[in-house]
Amino acid sequence: MQNKINEIKNYVVEKLSGINAQADCQALRVEILGKSGKVTELFKLLKDVPEEKGKVGQILNAGKAEIDALISNKEKALANAEIEKEINSAEKIDITLPTGAECGSLHPRTIIQREIEEVFTSMGFVVEDGNEVETEYNNFTAVNVPENHPARDMQDTFWLDNGEVLKTHTSASQNRILKKYAPPIRAIFPGRCFRNEDVDASHENTFFQLEGVIVDKDVSVGNLIYFMKEMLSKIFKKQVEVRLRPGFFPFTEPSFEMDVRCPFCDGKGCPTCKNGGWIELCPCGMIHPQVLRNGGIDPEVYSGCAFGLGLDRMTMLSFNLNDIRELNSGNLKLLKQFKIK
Ligand code: DAH
Repeated sequence: MQNKINEIKNYVVEKLSGINAQADCQALRVEILGKSGKVTELFKLLKDVPEEKGKVGQILNAGKAEIDALISNKEKALANAEIEKEINSAEKIDITLPTGAECGSLHPRTIIQREIEEVFTSMGFVVEDGNEVETEYNNFTAVNVPENHPARDMQDTFWLDNGEVLKTHTSASQNRILKKYAPPIRAIFPGRCFRNEDVDASHENTFFQLEGVIVDKDVSVGNLIYFMKEMLSKIFKKQVEVRLRPGFFPFTEPSFEMDVRCPFCDGKGCPTCKNGGWIELCPCGMIHPQVLRNGGIDPEVYSGCAFGLGLDRMTMLSFNLNDIRELNSGNLKLLKQFKIK
């Protein structure tokens, strides 16, 4: 048996010396070690060996392993030679060459939205999505704007045949969020809004807001001022000052308009603040008890505040843009300036 194995080994060595391709190695492996290969046939004879089956078996196993190693080594050598050849070949790829492919970029509004989201999440807020198509109830009634209320006129929008609307403000998501979370709640929800509006440099029929709600025991206007100041200071990269003026919204009581001392001239007066020193930035207020009740929250136990930041306005301020229409224009000349480096 040892002789037979040696014969096969010699045959393999000779064959391997003439092989230059990995595929031929594989063919040789099948010829010798495959199902009806030469070595496999020898194993089949084992059952007829009268004595010393164990010893003969050992000889066969050792021979098989040796042959297997011979073929594997040759395969490895051929694979390495292939790599060497490629490395040394004249064909070199210059990975620093420009590919000519254009790289996209984030929309300026997305950049600001993400920055604001980051500040609020660092203060324990969740970020929620809102629907663009909303029920009339969520958009109006749930936030205390019943049918025939004049506030509905100011937010004329696009109505669908089934009676639903394209949401006119992110406040439309308040009811879902109040119902989804039990107090304490800290949530922001950015989203696209629509109004049946004549378009000019500061009005769009399609625009973005970023709404926030805070509901807990003993929430006060102080909390609202704190969170807004924190956010604005991070976005404008300096400590900002804010002030509240009285406002009116059916869903807050009291309601305010929040102004920020112009971060560009520190209040001295410049074109951005129209020389007034303050920039009107964000309507806000204490959530009306009826809105809490509509969201399943007891206003005797909990109170809340809310704000509706104009995301387009924040974007325009941050990037010194003066026409809101640019933001939906797809104007590449403008957008390319925000390319990711
Ligand atoms: N939803 C209002 C609008 O679009 C803005 C607003 C005002 C949102 C006061 C609020 C708020 O959350 O408290 O005109």
